[in-house]
Amino acid sequence: MRFIIFALVCIGFVLTEEPFHYDGYKVYQIIPKTVDEAYYLRSLNEAPEFDFWAQPRALNATVTVMVSPGTQASFENDLLAKNMDFSVIIDDVESTVQDENFRQSRTRSVARGSVSFTYFMRYDEIVSYLYTIAEAYPNIVQLLVIGQSYEGRDIVGVRISGGSGTNRPEILVDAGIHAREWIAPPVALYIINQLVENTANGYLSQDVDWVIIPSLNPDGYEFTHTNTRLWRKTRTPNTSCYGVDPNRNFDYHWMLTGASDNQCSEIYAGPTPFSEKETQALKDYLSANEDRIKLYLTFHSYGNYLLYPWGYTSALPDNNDELYALGVKVNNAIRAVSGTNYIIGTSTNVLYAAAGGSDDYVKGVNGVDLAYCIELPGGGNTGFNPAATSIWPIVQETWEGVKAYHDYIKEKYV
Ligand SMILES: *[C@@H]1O[C@H](CO)[C@@H](O)[C@H](O)[C@H]1NC(C)=O
Ligand SMILES: *[C@@H]1O[C@H](CO)[C@@H](O)[C@H](O)[C@H]1NC(C)=O
Ligand SMILES: [Zn+2]
Repeated sequence: MRFIIFALVCIGFVLTEEPFHYDGYKVYQIIPKTVDEAYYLRSLNEAPEFDFWAQPRALNATVTVMVSPGTQASFENDLLAKNMDFSVIIDDVESTVQDENFRQSRTRSVARGSVSFTYFMRYDEIVSYLYTIAEAYPNIVQLLVIGQSYEGRDIVGVRISGGSGTNRPEILVDAGIHAREWIAPPVALYIINQLVENTANGYLSQDVDWVIIPSLNPDGYEFTHTNTRLWRKTRTPNTSCYGVDPNRNFDYHWMLTGASDNQCSEIYAGPTPFSEKETQALKDYLSANEDRIKLYLTFHSYGNYLLYPWGYTSALPDNNDELYALGVKVNNAIRAVSGTNYIIGTSTNVLYAAAGGSDDYVKGVNGVDLAYCIELPGGGNTGFNPAATSIWPIVQETWEGVKAYHDYIKEKYV
């Protein structure tokens, strides 16, 4: 029975290029109260019918999971049999996706080559903005194409450098490695916008270089706009399902934990490390620049977590104290302007163990001491679908945290 459901879900994705509809998909919230309950929820992690929006990470911490219609009855029966409380927070995911489409179409601006924070920009609009500012500000902005995606899109970023001299520390920022986490690319774009187009911020690139890649998984990102809103992976085809979770595909303790070898799973780690062109592109950039990168920030959503390595083990990194203290500074800067609060800690201890993530790789292999995976705020009950009106407050408050990161890097390395 389970196998048939797997097969149907996968065929659905392979055969149709029509938009995928989430009619009847429900989102459940469950609070595991015992270790057994947490393990039960964790055991569903790899199954394609279950899409965890918030992973089982600790006792008494809320788990959020989207469940396909054909699986809901047996899931609810299991929960009842185990005496676990649950609630349904979204009764029909399709309706939240439709609401978002409606808001997107109403708030869309049209000026090409400019940036907008009132709607979620398409990939070609993002690239066009980067080309435009590289042309308008040739003294400080250099366009970078770090590679191509599986479907042949350029993976585009910018280097922002306002001063001279060799030996300048670099802050590397990426966003959008998980396609559906729509709030991440605007955060990266706002950093670019503020560094380049707001002259009051010139001091921030005087002594420090920034390299910012706002959409690391453009095929997946476009697919979330055209077909399947909650697509997470790359778009590499395989025999029965598409895509690899790029944030399980980095070659550092690859496949050790929290990753799947089932090509239909949302956390499929790929046939080999760096099987994906997108992760290879970042790897190549990293190995060519590892000596100057002093801080790596990778933006995800959601849940308000400032995470740092390790993701593959609960052992703490050597510089745990420094990583934690810097996280506190950043959180304080954000909280001071908006009240938004982040939980700070290592991925394994705060979220859940997962090997093959980019932040573990950057620290473990490239030797960059300071690496953070930032799970931005989400859209409340609607998770990955924050209202377009929440782009502004999120990018602005996050920018305060990014400036705190800069101040630390300048203080320590300049
Ligand atoms: C979880 O909550 C229950 C009931 O509220 C409480 O008895 C238990 O100590 C809590 N466990 C943890 C680890 O917080
Ligand atoms: C397809 O996925 C399977 C795992 O389900 C893997 O063993 C195989 O190497 C993949 N093939 C390609 C071409 O990625
Ligand atoms: Zn993510």
